[in-house]
Amino acid sequence: MSSNTSAQPPKDHWSAEAYSASASFVPKLTQKVLQYLDPRPSERVLDVGCGDGKFTENFLPSVASVLGIDSSPAMIEAAKRDYDCTKTEFRVVDCRFLEKESSIIDGSWDKVISNAALHWILRDESTRISALRGIYAALKSGGSFVFEMGGHGNVAEVATAIMSALVHRGVSIEKARESNPWFFPSDTWMKQTLESIGFEVEKIELEYRPTKLTTAANGGLEGWVKLMGAQMLDVLPEEERSSAVKEVCEVLQTAVTRAEDGSQWLGYVRLRGIAKKN
Ligand code: BEZ
Repeated sequence: MSSNTSAQPPKDHWSAEAYSASASFVPKLTQKVLQYLDPRPSERVLDVGCGDGKFTENFLPSVASVLGIDSSPAMIEAAKRDYDCTKTEFRVVDCRFLEKESSIIDGSWDKVISNAALHWILRDESTRISALRGIYAALKSGGSFVFEMGGHGNVAEVATAIMSALVHRGVSIEKARESNPWFFPSDTWMKQTLESIGFEVEKIELEYRPTKLTTAANGGLEGWVKLMGAQMLDVLPEEERSSAVKEVCEVLQTAVTRAEDGSQWLGYVRLRGIAKKN
């Protein structure tokens, strides 16, 4: 959930309720990354971009303890409310600056896990490498970094439609690009970058995984665009945002809707991997 494109404290766009309405599938579609995590009862795990803790909950019973960190105070509050126990700690940390968190990056963690968060955290080019270096420094030697995030081409249809809606309202293409809060790297970029930091990349894969949108009230495509696209929509004056959301939904209608049942799907691309600190 960690996200922002400047060095300012991030505006908190998140609410656990809105996330649940529009993206409840995110912590559920995690079978492979949990299999790669391979949690063990003795392990201390750092969860980078833990959000509201719903993903953490999946492996919590199988490890010794978890520290969940996220830049969103609203999500950390929800995680503390729902998953407070002797094994958990949740802290508000802007993970872009992980390298400065000396109490966390102490070479003591057995595993670092991150699910559906690194595309926000790595958005800002100026802190991209240092955030990954922070993860490397956090691990003990022999420890593993296990991650899943959006990969190259992820949700390209909706990202493009939002950018177009901004441009149609007079925003320059440069500003529209700059407002895009995500970095979706290729497997090649990620492997090369992790290796340049010192990791041994044991597994890296890019998977096209079309994902069904929710049908919850306030969810669906409109809910997704409002929540996930909030930073892009913020570029517009408030009174123009709802017409932009409407345009995005209308433009995408054909591309996202399946003929057999009218369900709506986005073209998610997952980048998944295991990188070891030797
Ligand atoms: C993702 O998990 O791939 C994702 C989530 C929100 C916005 C964009 C991408």
